Amino acid sequence: MRAPLFPAPVPVPAREKAPSGLRPGRVCYGRGMAEPKSVPASLTEKTEIVLPQHANAIGTAFGGTVMSWIDVCAAVSAQRHCGRVAVTASVDALDFVAPLRVGDVVILRSWVNAAFRTSLEVECVVEKEDPETGRRVLCADAYLTFVNLGADGRPMPVPPLAPATDDERKRANAAERRRAARLEARREAEQDRGRGA
Ligand SMILES: CC(C)(COP(=O)(O)OP(=O)(O)OC[C@H]1O[C@@H](n2cnc3c(N)ncnc32)[C@H](O)[C@@H]1OP(=O)(O)O)[C@@H](O)C(=O)NCCC(=O)NCCS
Repeated sequence: MRAPLFPAPVPVPAREKAPSGLRPGRVCYGRGMAEPKSVPASLTEKTEIVLPQHANAIGTAFGGTVMSWIDVCAAVSAQRHCGRVAVTASVDALDFVAPLRVGDVVILRSWVNAAFRTSLEVECVVEKEDPETGRRVLCADAYLTFVNLGADGRPMPVPPLAPATDDERKRANAAERRRAARLEARREAEQDRGRGA
């Protein structure tokens, strides 16, 4: 069972003031450890409408289209945290729990759950919004891992995350547990590939 979602849409905060006079959102590498970033600093919201070109023959959105929306939203969260482009390394199980139909207003929200060494976990939640009541219904959610790449294309350290609330700390702990499972699965997949499985 996943931890409860953020209770309500949170406005994207103004970018944090960079401590050393650098441009906001930039990380200073090479002068020691990067400054920790808050969870809200990575919060990203993206709104879409399901159009006919997004739909299959029964009028619901293609999973692949929703996946690309998720990847874009989550990539912006990763980029806000890292201060540079990060690439998608993997997407954990993506659960579509309710259909999105043509005409639906879709709201995606993502944020960083945990920063590791050169990678970070981003959670993305997809909801549809009832235009009359504004009520939102969960349609999908996913955990994505991004890797921060340096100019040489090699993984480079990510700024630490500074969870500030109980909810943020719970999410960070859960992300650590998922990472352990992910690394184990990666090891097994590499062994299987080595065996030609
Ligand atoms: C992701 C990528 C940069 C990892 O490169 P690598 O040489 O395997 O790097 P490493 O083994 O040093 O791992 C770097 C980090 O990525 C993490 N990682 C690598 N593959 C991962 C995977 N499949 N799932 C989760 N994390 C992964 C590692 O755990 C490590 O994290 P850490 O430093 O926080 O501990 C490389 O595989 C790549 O470029 N993939 C293509 C990415 C891309 O193009 N994505 C867009 C969609 S096609």
